[in-house]
Amino acid sequence: MRLTARFHTISKMLDFYSQFNPSPLSIKKFIDFGLNASEEKSFIFLRKELPVRLANIMKEIALLPENLLRMPSVIAVNDWYMRSFQEILEFEKKDPTPGTMEHFCNELVKIRNRHSDVVETMAQGVLELKESHDVDCHTEHSIQYFLDRFYMSRISIRMLINQHINLFSALIFGGQLENAPGPNRSKYIGCIDTQCDVVSVIKDAYENARFLCDQYYLASPDLIINQGQHNDLQKEEYINIVYVPSHLYHMLFELFKNSMRAVMEYHNSSNEFPPITVAVSKGKEDICLKMSDLGGGIRRSTTDHLFKYMYSTAPQPSKSDAHTVPLAGYGYGLPISRLYARYFHGDLVLLSCEGYGTDTVIYMKALSNEANELLPIFNKTTSKFYRTTVQTGDWSNQAANIGDRQISINTKKHQLPQSAQEALTRAL
Ligand SMILES: Nc1ncnc2c1ncn2[C@@H]1O[C@H](COP(=O)(O)OP(=O)(O)OP(=O)(O)O)[C@@H](O)[C@H]1O
Ligand SMILES: [Mg+2]
Repeated sequence: MRLTARFHTISKMLDFYSQFNPSPLSIKKFIDFGLNASEEKSFIFLRKELPVRLANIMKEIALLPENLLRMPSVIAVNDWYMRSFQEILEFEKKDPTPGTMEHFCNELVKIRNRHSDVVETMAQGVLELKESHDVDCHTEHSIQYFLDRFYMSRISIRMLINQHINLFSALIFGGQLENAPGPNRSKYIGCIDTQCDVVSVIKDAYENARFLCDQYYLASPDLIINQGQHNDLQKEEYINIVYVPSHLYHMLFELFKNSMRAVMEYHNSSNEFPPITVAVSKGKEDICLKMSDLGGGIRRSTTDHLFKYMYSTAPQPSKSDAHTVPLAGYGYGLPISRLYARYFHGDLVLLSCEGYGTDTVIYMKALSNEANELLPIFNKTTSKFYRTTVQTGDWSNQAANIGDRQISINTKKHQLPQSAQEALTRAL
């Protein structure tokens, strides 16, 4: 009885908080807040904003197909969200005393740790569904739609939590100075680098991907970096951007792994591996990074699948390799990287020529006041999406509905081993 009463209270609170739209912040706002705002202000903002963001996405979890909601991994994820939602609500009416704010910070650390396995656990839930049920096109479509929104929501919640912890946690007091890597610590505000040197992030991501490539293929393609800049802009020796370097690193690392694998496989009969080229340009509106490889490209008929979760042409990494990070194989690289790019209103676009190679472009907003968070909002239209059935074909060739085909060719009996879990956990 008491449990039922508790459930009703939570569900009322979910209804209440999901009525509000999340408030997107720009990178500039994050910086201004980090430089000027007090811990108290941040506390008061987060104790409402976090439940709003959590409630918005939890309402969507509830709309997922019944079968999926019954999968053990999805139940676990749901449970984590419920607990974290309740824990933050504990602070709803508390006075912002130093003790309360310290407790709040500790709770945020706890929540961040609790949610560190969400990506792979949700992925596991989808696999459990596929292994136990026939999944129709509509369900497949809803899951793809949901995962994009769910993972984006998670990126945003972690951004808020990380900023608060980095700036105000007693353990790393004066977070913007102490917590930053490298010689120029003072240019960090929380996890934002106000002078992120794009080329050094590229080199870093390349070196780490090359390490994996060398392990698998005993060789790897070289890297060539070209830089360009809009003529009206003041010429900089290195192109800088105000950005979260870990997000940029994540995208580049994934793209390098993909390009390296393509190059090594396509040229496997020769000892010559054409280099991967990255062009970096700074315009008035965007900073663009174009990665080009001569890895033989991708068939046009499969390009629609590339951003689907679980789509991969790589052989399933063996569980005996569980201690190593795989070069490819889970099909999360491109879709999650695109979410990172879109999170601050950038994008990630892939263009391929079969028989030749692939270009992938990362766009990032050049101006930090235009780099606004892109957040999923729960409303009636969202609910409708989950309930409507897939349209019948209205083109002569049904293959035009290519987006409705089966997601993965590689998901049967596909368990995410330890290494993948670690790679994904680090990623988000
Ligand atoms: N540069 C590229 N050249 C050729 N094929 C590519 C390239 N980038 C991606 N692909 C194709 O797209 C598929 C999906 O890529 P994605 O990065 O999402 O997953 P993955 O690399 O298979 O696994 P992981 O989750 O480990 O990244 C790849 O399996 C590969 O077939
Ligand atoms: Mg990949």
